[in-house]
Amino acid sequence: MTQLAANADNLRIGLMGVGGVCAAVHYPGLSRIPGVTIQAICDPNAELVSSRAAEWGVSSSFTNVGDLLAEGLDAVVIATPNDQHRPLIEAALDAGCHVLCEKPLGMSLSETIAIYEKAEASGLRHMTAFTYRFVPAMNYLRHLVHTGVLGEIRHARVQRLQDWGEDAIGWRQYRQQAGLGELGDMGIHRIDYAEDLLGKTLSVCARMKQLVPRDQTADGQPCPPQDVEDWVAWLAEYESGATCVFEMGKLSKGRGPGGDHDLCEINGTVSSAIYHLHEPHQLLLGGRQQPYRVVPVPSEFLTREGSPRDPHAGDPVRTFRYDQAWEFVSAIRESRPCLPSFWHGMRAQAVAEAVVLADRDRRWVDIPQIPDPPTG
Ligand SMILES: NC(=O)c1ccc[n+]([C@@H]2O[C@H](COP(=O)([O-])OP(=O)(O)OC[C@H]3O[C@@H](n4cnc5c(N)ncnc54)[C@H](O)[C@@H]3O)[C@@H](O)[C@H]2O)c1
Repeated sequence: MTQLAANADNLRIGLMGVGGVCAAVHYPGLSRIPGVTIQAICDPNAELVSSRAAEWGVSSSFTNVGDLLAEGLDAVVIATPNDQHRPLIEAALDAGCHVLCEKPLGMSLSETIAIYEKAEASGLRHMTAFTYRFVPAMNYLRHLVHTGVLGEIRHARVQRLQDWGEDAIGWRQYRQQAGLGELGDMGIHRIDYAEDLLGKTLSVCARMKQLVPRDQTADGQPCPPQDVEDWVAWLAEYESGATCVFEMGKLSKGRGPGGDHDLCEINGTVSSAIYHLHEPHQLLLGGRQQPYRVVPVPSEFLTREGSPRDPHAGDPVRTFRYDQAWEFVSAIRESRPCLPSFWHGMRAQAVAEAVVLADRDRRWVDIPQIPDPPTG
């Protein structure tokens, strides 16, 4: 199946977990790619899976993963609560499927190491859904940083501030299913893209806070209180010598809905640049003693190379996410590693765990050594 898949005109893909992100990102992304068939879907929520099957015109829908894998698929996408990632990845790899899995890749560093090693040994393609790498402004920012346009990077700041309110937020608020709170939800993406821009993190110091109990649902029903953090901030030092300050929080009044604040500002020796998610087709650039000016993202950075997506169709804050599916499918067809792969999922987990330790022990924590991924 695997060898066939690499050359097949038609890739048969299964979706595991058809909740929020699957409907908003994975299904629309994959279904736009010629030669991709969403062959089967599964979710233990029987009502949800049958309504998605009807809406998407998928004939095979299941409430259990074994039935989905028995369809003889080429690849799967896993978009379930975080505690389900490892068992589903392992089952999919054992069935010979390439895997795109949501973030955070696993529940701990040791788990993500085991996941990565098994996936790498399988010879199958593996990808972590670090979606923000695909924002057009991020594509362009990466280019400016790596071609030296900003000069040597001295320092940077990354902020993700939202207002989710104080009601319960489902599985995301329980350590047993989520592993981490805001750090694993919003922070881990930014750990990943900051390493993509600035290189490897050397060490961190941090503070995390649980600010509210979230012991009531939006319709007023009592529920067990959360046991994860709502807010996290950390300071990171990079191998390059750069320093970055991060802050993420779900209880930032004035930052929602729709006005969510997602910023990455980089200060180099030549100039500075600002990426803002909600203006995905532009960057702000400023030189010495010049105020920031708007710079449109050049057309070659608006999509990933070869992507069938029209960057001017739909809401650009949402549609860039479809290029993630294009990367996964392209890597399968070209028999090359996905970028980002499970290696990047493991690497981000290593930094996240260091943030947790730094907060717990109130000290700087070095990131454990992780060998570089094989190339080619
Ligand atoms: N990359 C991104 O930008 C992004 C955005 C949102 C969520 N996520 C990640 O995606 C994952 C899902 O988040 P969501 O917001 O879609 O959650 P969700 O609760 O909306 O959907 C999760 C679905 O998984 C199903 N599920 C649970 N156990 C399952 C199993 N064993 N097999 C198959 N399905 C199962 C649930 O019934 C539910 O329908 C999480 O890991 C989250 O961190 C990533």
